[in-house]
Amino acid sequence: MKHSVVSLTINGAERQMLAAPGTTLLDVLRESQGLTGTRRGCEQGACGTCTVLVDGRTAMSCMLPVETIEGAHVETIEGLTPPQGLHPIQEAFLEGFATQCGFCTSGMIMVAAALLAKNPNPARDDVVRAISGNICRCTGYEAIIDAILDAAVRVKSASRAEAA
Ligand code: FES
Ligand code: FES
Repeated sequence: MKHSVVSLTINGAERQMLAAPGTTLLDVLRESQGLTGTRRGCEQGACGTCTVLVDGRTAMSCMLPVETIEGAHVETIEGLTPPQGLHPIQEAFLEGFATQCGFCTSGMIMVAAALLAKNPNPARDDVVRAISGNICRCTGYEAIIDAILDAAVRVKSASRAEAA
C-alpha cells in the first residue's frame, strides 16, 4: 500500500508524517504524535469523544483520513491548554464539577471552544445544540451545559483583561 507524506500544523507546530491510506487523524494524534488527550471512543462518528478543531471547526478525528486534510491547522486539548494553569473553559469544567470519569471531557471542551469562538454569548439552547453530537456516558449533561455557560463569562473576562 502506498503511503503518502502529509503536512499538518498541530497545535501551532508544523509536522510531516508518512501515512498509509485511510490513516485517521485520531490515529496520527494518539499513535504518532503522542497527543493522547484526544480520546478514542466509538470510532464510528457517534460519540464525539475524539473531537478536535480542524481549521477552527469541530471535527471527529476518528472519521477523518489525514490525507484529506493536507495543510490543515489542527488544535487538540493539549494545544488549548496554556503552558501554565488552565484555559478558562477547563477552569469552568473543573470548578463546576462538569467532569466525572472525564472520558468525554476533551471532546466537550473542544466543542465549547469552537462554540465560544463563533458565539461568545450563547444561550442555553445554543450550548445544548453544540454538544448534541457528544455523548457523556456519566450523563452529567446539566453540569457540562452550566460549565460551558460559565466558560463564556470567563472567556470574555479573560479577553477583556488581555486587552487592558
Ligand atoms: S471516537 Fe470518534 S466519534 Fe466516537
Ligand atoms: S464525564 Fe464520564 S463520559 Fe462524560
